Amino acid sequence: MRKKQAVILCGLLLSILLFSFVENKYFLITDKDVELHVPNGFPKPVYKFKNNRLTPEKFMLGRMLFNDPILSKDSTTSCASCHQRIAAFGHIDHTLSHGIYGMIGKRNVPALQNLIWKDAFMWDGSIAHLEQQSIGPMTNPIEMDETMPHVISKLKANKDYVERFRLAFGDTDVTAERLLKSLTQFVGLMISANSRYDKYINGTDTFNASEKNGLSLFRANCSSCHKEPLFTDNTYRNNGLVPDTALKDKGRGGVSAVASDNYKFKVPSLRNVEMTYPYMHDGRFRKLRDVLNHYDNKEKHYKGADKAITKISKLSDHDKVDIIAFLLTLTDKTFLYDRRFVDPFMK
Ligand code: HEC
Ligand code: HEC
Repeated sequence: MRKKQAVILCGLLLSILLFSFVENKYFLITDKDVELHVPNGFPKPVYKFKNNRLTPEKFMLGRMLFNDPILSKDSTTSCASCHQRIAAFGHIDHTLSHGIYGMIGKRNVPALQNLIWKDAFMWDGSIAHLEQQSIGPMTNPIEMDETMPHVISKLKANKDYVERFRLAFGDTDVTAERLLKSLTQFVGLMISANSRYDKYINGTDTFNASEKNGLSLFRANCSSCHKEPLFTDNTYRNNGLVPDTALKDKGRGGVSAVASDNYKFKVPSLRNVEMTYPYMHDGRFRKLRDVLNHYDNKEKHYKGADKAITKISKLSDHDKVDIIAFLLTLTDKTFLYDRRFVDPFMK
């Protein structure tokens, strides 16, 4: 009997040991994990990690910070509360963003992907530099409601973070600049370029007839704005949406103060669009079908809609099915299930 118990105990200990080893390996980031590969056919990145050399330690620190509610005033809201991995870092099923104290924001949370190819951020392009981006949500009273000095003092009081800053930057100085650089490494490496569409373009996968037709229709009607391979041309346009009278969001016009920019929004990428619903800057559409019905329903378009919108051809039901079939090929499981982006607090 004793012997049997000893065997069970040994087995248990061994499996715990094995599990912790596997687990650590799962969360460990290596040099190889932080190599920057510009995908085939992609342009040169705008953000090149020039004064922010990629290292596993900085990336891991960024990953910790991204998932830690310590960055918010009442320790309830992390970046990941709004930017969810399974939704390509958008917020699944939320029309408008939900922040601290249950406050509702005025815009839909965008997916985070291929950010290093963007020349400006937010739906209205109000932030010009990726490293500056995180200050916004941290200090926004309805997102995380913090101040940078207070975040820094909380991190300084946390031994684990002080050690992580030392590992990442060589000394124990916890500064705002270092915090922003680490977060930038984490979000900057969110690169999506391995969808079925990419494999089709690289000749390693095939499309069925519906997907092929969808791609041709897309190229004829949509890609002047949703330009391949990023599926955005980084411009601001009005795509026919009538402004929401309650939100009164002027989009780009609110930033540039140029009247002709009113109600224009940055063309969003359509990569992983299957996972990033609801759609548009205010999340007004729940389904891709609704989006296509909107583009097709020209008599209901805003009068200042972009010329390229007025040129979209009449879409039959069949066309819509095919365009959606094509859009679904933009789902990138390699990205969505990438182990590097898993919340390290899940350990
Ligand atoms: C309360 C929800 C919320 C929280 C918390 C939040 N974000 Fe966001 N994030 C948004 C919304 C909404 C936008 C779009 C805002 C706009 O257009 O005005 C956005 C935009 C962004 C963008 C720009 C994406 C693009 O393509 O333009 C980045 C990058 C980003 N957030 C990173 C972060 C990081 C890093 C944190 C944590 C420090 C964070 N966010 C915390 C809701 C949130
Ligand atoms: C004139 C440029 C333009 C054209 C042409 C265009 N779009 Fe858009 N698209 C936009 C803009 C701008 C937005 C964001 C609008 C907003 O939120 O106010 C958008 C949003 C979307 C979204 C929602 C994405 C998200 O993450 O919320 C989808 C899906 C979409 N477009 C698909 C298409 C399809 C399919 C076509 C062709 C039938 C098309 N678009 C044609 C500019 C364009």
